[in-house]
Amino acid sequence: MADLNERTITQAVIDRIAQTTEPRTREIMTSLIRHLHDFIREVHLTEEEWMTGIQFLTEVGKTCTDKRQEFILLSDTLGASILVITQNHRSEQGSVESTVLGPYYWEGAPERPLGSNLAEGVTGEPTFYSGRVLDVNGSPIAGATLDIWSGDGEGNYDMQLGETEMRARGKIRTNAAGKYWFRSIRPSFYPVPIDGPVGRMLKAMGRHPNRPGHIHMIVSAPGYHTVTTHLFVANSPYLDSDAVFGMKESLVVDFKKHDAGPAPTGERMQQPFYCAEFDFRLHKAG
Ligand code: BEZ
Ligand code: FE
Repeated sequence: MADLNERTITQAVIDRIAQTTEPRTREIMTSLIRHLHDFIREVHLTEEEWMTGIQFLTEVGKTCTDKRQEFILLSDTLGASILVITQNHRSEQGSVESTVLGPYYWEGAPERPLGSNLAEGVTGEPTFYSGRVLDVNGSPIAGATLDIWSGDGEGNYDMQLGETEMRARGKIRTNAAGKYWFRSIRPSFYPVPIDGPVGRMLKAMGRHPNRPGHIHMIVSAPGYHTVTTHLFVANSPYLDSDAVFGMKESLVVDFKKHDAGPAPTGERMQQPFYCAEFDFRLHKAG
């Protein structure tokens, strides 16, 4: 039995997992070991650096609670989340693009009638959102659901403000012509949480923590692939440098400014407001 050296150690570890019966687990672990060893050799990692890495990951784990997932934030800020999402939606040609879910999704938002104001009492400039949900051939999908959530006009989500009731959230269903419309606010850019180890990592790398202004939605309809996506505010700061790499040009929408006066819903606005229009396309499942 020969001693293992800096080169032969990699194959020795891979050989040790040869008995893994589940083929996909074996494939993933083999590749992970290979890349991890190559990384250690490539940067010639010192023992001190290796320990710093272990301490960092330990802290990431300790920062996780039932309300905060620092590992997902780490994955997001290293571009891993969007890489996984993008490569798994590659085949859905013609469908609206997917992007990150983020940590502020709150399951169980109430269904609201078409035209509802989802952001009653929420700070921010009023915005009327409208459009259609279509299949990839352009036919309208009736009864599609938009599960919507947004921060306020200053970039804070209800969860971050310690709210126990949902704000700026709701489900809207398309009508028989596949149309949706609702009122909310124009979302602002905001920073991802930076009071933990990921924040320190961003700072050490000279990176800003901001995401461009966006509103989130999960778009679904029976018989179609569900898509987790955003609409981004055109001309928002940080569109070109989203801290989680989630920005996709096809999701950027012009928020058109209107003077005070009648809104698309018929209500009379006492202050200027915005209108944002977007059609979502869904791919058939199966
Ligand atoms: C968000 O858009 O809500 C978000 C996404 C990833 C990390 C932090 C926030
Ligand atoms: Fe967000």
